[in-house]
Amino acid sequence: MPPIEVELKDRAYPVITGAGRVKRLSALLRNHAPEGRVFVFYDARFYALHGSTVHKALKLPSERLFELTLPPGEKTKSLTQARKIYDILLGEKMTRSDFILACGGGVTGDLVGFIAATLLRGIPWAVVPTTLLAMVDAAVGGKTGVNHRRGKNLIGAFWQPKFVLGDLHFLHTLPFRQIVCGLGEIVKYAGLTGNKMLLQLKEYLRNGDFYNERFLAHLIESSLNYKAGLVTADERDESKRRFLNFGHTFAHAIENAAGYGRLLHGEAVILGTAAAVETGILLKPESEKYFREYRVIIEDMIKLVPRRRLDLKKIMGSMTWDKKRKKGTSRFVLLSRPGQPFIVDNPDKKVIKAALIKTLTKYQSGGGQYA
Ligand SMILES: NC(=O)c1ccc[n+]([C@@H]2O[C@H](COP(=O)([O-])OP(=O)(O)OC[C@H]3O[C@@H](n4cnc5c(N)ncnc54)[C@H](O)[C@@H]3O)[C@@H](O)[C@H]2O)c1
Ligand SMILES: [Zn+2]
Repeated sequence: MPPIEVELKDRAYPVITGAGRVKRLSALLRNHAPEGRVFVFYDARFYALHGSTVHKALKLPSERLFELTLPPGEKTKSLTQARKIYDILLGEKMTRSDFILACGGGVTGDLVGFIAATLLRGIPWAVVPTTLLAMVDAAVGGKTGVNHRRGKNLIGAFWQPKFVLGDLHFLHTLPFRQIVCGLGEIVKYAGLTGNKMLLQLKEYLRNGDFYNERFLAHLIESSLNYKAGLVTADERDESKRRFLNFGHTFAHAIENAAGYGRLLHGEAVILGTAAAVETGILLKPESEKYFREYRVIIEDMIKLVPRRRLDLKKIMGSMTWDKKRKKGTSRFVLLSRPGQPFIVDNPDKKVIKAALIKTLTKYQSGGGQYA
């Protein structure tokens, strides 16, 4: 697929994705880091599987290259980990003519991007996203950050990369649950964009090979086109970019209610998307006819989410907490039909509950063991 441009004037950059694209790494680095050293941070699990491929593609002499691995997992996205890396980089006497490269999923990208944003008030950086979720979402848009014990992503900065380079070959080693997580964000984009992506998703699901590069490439391209457009229009998340939260108010509450780490973010997004669609239909019953196809797709996706006990009261309770954080506003992105998002603040609690009941009924009737 051709590169997709995030058009942010002097901070514009390409998002390059495709099979075997990692080979372009050395040319991109020649362009963006012609002289200084390149500090490469890898997710350790990714490094064990593909580190040598990336290392070869860097084509850098050893005196210009510094490589480090980071422990996999959300815990790595912390100030503690950031401090360790600041110590190492300052010990190496890093300067602003050096360059930082993050190779991994959203955890690696968010943490390493945050270090790039803050060290010496900003070091140029780039991302090689290696999970489906990072390719379609986390690696694009310049949101970087770490977690705080009070909540996820509470400390961070906007810091756009110089390029994003995704290689589809890396996806073959992803555990199936991680593919499903990426699909969670993809099904979100499909709702936001409408017809074309619905068709692409339908074909992908019908094909049944969830690692098929050709089908994934179409889905990734459509997702990126949409996200790049929103980031260009609203870099700092003050208006249209908020559409990307479609399904997420529900998803965060579901993640919390399931218990820490029991459902992964993208899995919760599938359920959250289902609940958001039902909320939209309850608020605008005349729109139901537009959702026939999308509902079928979402039902197929729900079957991919591992069985967990989910308590309605707990989910509703988590949303009340969300409410406090946003100074009394509980915000939902909904659809009046696929491709037409709108935002509602503080909808009727009864409607939210009814939408959740519909979603949980579908989820729990899917068969399979509870874990
Ligand atoms: N910045 C943003 O705009 C944004 C958007 C969405 C999500 N996020 C953040 O992204 C994070 C989630 O990202 P994620 O889903 O990529 O999770 P992740 O980074 O934790 O990666 C998931 C797992 O996949 C493994 N892995 C990575 N690449 C692999 C490969 N090619 N083969 C096999 N295993 C591989 C990792 O070791 C890890 O265990 C969250 O912290 C979330 O807050 C950020
Ligand atoms: Zn998400």
